[in-house]
Amino acid sequence: MRLDRYLATHSDATRTLAKMAIKTGRVAVNGSVVKDQGKKVKPDDVVSINGRELKESGEVYLVMNKQAGVICATQDEEQDTVLDFLDGYTHKELHIAGRLDKDTTGLVLITSDGKWSHRVTSPNYVCEKVYLLESVIPIQGSYIEEFSNGILLRDESKLTKPAKLEILTENTARLTLTEGKYHQVKRMFGAMGNRVTKLHRESVGEVTLADLQEGEFRELTQAEIDSF
Ligand code: URA
Repeated sequence: MRLDRYLATHSDATRTLAKMAIKTGRVAVNGSVVKDQGKKVKPDDVVSINGRELKESGEVYLVMNKQAGVICATQDEEQDTVLDFLDGYTHKELHIAGRLDKDTTGLVLITSDGKWSHRVTSPNYVCEKVYLLESVIPIQGSYIEEFSNGILLRDESKLTKPAKLEILTENTARLTLTEGKYHQVKRMFGAMGNRVTKLHRESVGEVTLADLQEGEFRELTQAEIDSF
C-alpha cells in the first residue's frame, strides 16, 4: 500500500494531512524518515508519525498518570479533562476506559477502541485494580475480613466482590478490587465509618504506571493491549 494511503487508513489523518506529514519529514518507516508519498509499505513495516508508531488497526491505546484536579471526561467547558493533556492524539473516538474521581490520581486507560474498553470495564470480565489510599482515622484489622467477605454498600442490592486489603501503616493501605462500582473505594471505607483522604490507582490488570510521572502518558504495548 502507498505510504500516504497507509497513513490515512491507519491514523485519524486525512490523505491531505498525511501527505503534508510525509513532506515535512514527520513520517518514518522502520526508523528512517521517508519523504516519498508513494513509497510502498509492506505488512511487516513499522510506520511512525511524529515518533508515534501506528497500530495495524488504526486504534489508539494509552495509559496516563492522572493528576488530581483533572476530570475523566472527554470534554468540559470549564474543567481540565484527561484528553486535554494528550498532545498529538486527536482521534475523534478517544474515550476513557474506567474513570477516576477528580481528586484521585493515577492510572487511567484511554482508547479509541470501543470493544476493547467494553472488555476492560465489563462487570463480567475479572480484572484487578490496585489502589493506594490514605484514611482520616486508623484502618482497623477487621476491615480485611469484611472486605474479603464483601460488604453491602448503600443503594446496592449485592455485596461487593471479595477485595484484598493490605494495611501498610495506621492510615494507609493497598486495596485490590475486581470490580469498579461508582466511588467504590470511598464508599467501602465510608461503610466502615472511615473516610478516604487520598486515593491513587497503581495498576489495572497487567498495566502499571511504571515510571510515568503525574500528567505523563504513554502508548500501551501490544502485550498490554492483548492482556484484556
Ligand atoms: N474508587 C473511588 O472511590 N474513586 C475512584 O476514583 C476510584 C475508585
